[in-house]
Amino acid sequence: MNIVLTGGTSGLGYRTAQVLGKEIKNKIILVGSNKQKGKTSIDNLIKETLNNKISFIQCDLSSISEIKSLADKLKKFKIDILINNAGALFFSRKESVNKIEKTFALNHLSYFILTNILLKYKVIKTGGRIINVASGAHRGVKVDFNNLEMTTNYNGWIAYKKSKLCNILFTKKLSELTKKNKITVNCLHPGFVKTKFGKNNNGIVSLAIKFLMNFFAISVEEGAKTIIYLATDDTVKNITGKYFYQSQIDEPSIFAQNKKDADLLWEESLRIVKNKGLTLI
Ligand SMILES: NC(=O)c1ccc[n+]([C@@H]2O[C@H](COP(=O)([O-])OP(=O)(O)OC[C@H]3O[C@@H](n4cnc5c(N)ncnc54)[C@H](OP(=O)(O)O)[C@@H]3O)[C@@H](O)[C@H]2O)c1
Repeated sequence: MNIVLTGGTSGLGYRTAQVLGKEIKNKIILVGSNKQKGKTSIDNLIKETLNNKISFIQCDLSSISEIKSLADKLKKFKIDILINNAGALFFSRKESVNKIEKTFALNHLSYFILTNILLKYKVIKTGGRIINVASGAHRGVKVDFNNLEMTTNYNGWIAYKKSKLCNILFTKKLSELTKKNKITVNCLHPGFVKTKFGKNNNGIVSLAIKFLMNFFAISVEEGAKTIIYLATDDTVKNITGKYFYQSQIDEPSIFAQNKKDADLLWEESLRIVKNKGLTLI
């Protein structure tokens, strides 16, 4: 199997690569923004799995041009499984190189852009699987189409929650479009998992998250199970457009089931990237 795994250099992504890499026929490409972390990850993963078909491509997934060049590099492959997993929380408002609010750019638009380019160039095989790592944090918010990038009243936690809601709406819409190609698209909540998540923020925020993780989070081995289940289990091969938790279909919030919002998010995402010079469809 050819597997592309964004954010494979740490936390849930790394654990997923460890397990999928043990299947020696799997070829895994990890994507991350930090070159050194990428190198260390593949060295360690190859030692741990004895699978030397694990490689790394550096890409800042909040940058449209970097996603384009990543997709160019991936065009020569036929991908069986795409796992959109890279994500972060930005407690204070930041913008990407394209001047797009960074939570939205990284957590939603990177999934949207990379997947659409790969589909456009038929890089994902018929029968392939797309897995979007969302979060239970999507509950309790609604997408505000008048302030998608939170130019006013920015709150990092709310921005994160909304971006994870976008992952579910994106899954819903995309799954309809890929039915004809027999490519499934599902998303999941891994649980509250002890990882490096949140460490990119200032000391106090990062310490608070670390504190909560020490007391309440599950292990990365436990958290990654649903990603691995969606990637490998035969029972899900014909299931598409669903939200999973603990390897079971779960019901996301009412806002995550809103077809109109899924359509609107799709149209807005297309419009935003087009304004930045990228026509996807
Ligand atoms: N941990 C939890 O409790 C939890 C709960 C629900 C959902 N999730 C979701 O799980 C996913 C993985 O999170 P995690 O907990 O495993 O966090 P993590 O340990 O911080 O890992 C994040 C991964 O994303 C990559 N990444 C971050 N920014 C990037 C960028 N600009 N470009 C490319 N790659 C980038 C990182 O690599 P580089 O540093 O090299 O860029 C790293 O490999 C996220 O989507 C998160 O929203 C996590």
